[in-house]
Amino acid sequence: MSGHDDHPDVILCAGGPMLLRGDHVIEDADGTQHRTVRPISAVCRCGKSASQPWCDGTHKLIPKQRRP
Ligand code: FES
Repeated sequence: MSGHDDHPDVILCAGGPMLLRGDHVIEDADGTQHRTVRPISAVCRCGKSASQPWCDGTHKLIPKQRRP
C-alpha cells in the first residue's frame, strides 16, 4: 500500500465538517445511531448545527479561530 488514496473514506475539512464516503453508522452523544444515506455525508464537528449529527453550514458563522 502506498499510503495515499485518491478517494479516502474520511476527510476532515479545515474549520468544518468531517466528510464520510459510503455507508456508515454515526452514534451521537445520547447513544442514538444515525445511518448515512448519501454517497458523501457531512458530520458536524463544531457542535453548532441545528440538524445534529449532520453539518448544516452553521460552522461558517463561527469566527475562524474558534472553528474545529
Ligand atoms: S461543522 Fe458544519 S455546522 Fe458544525
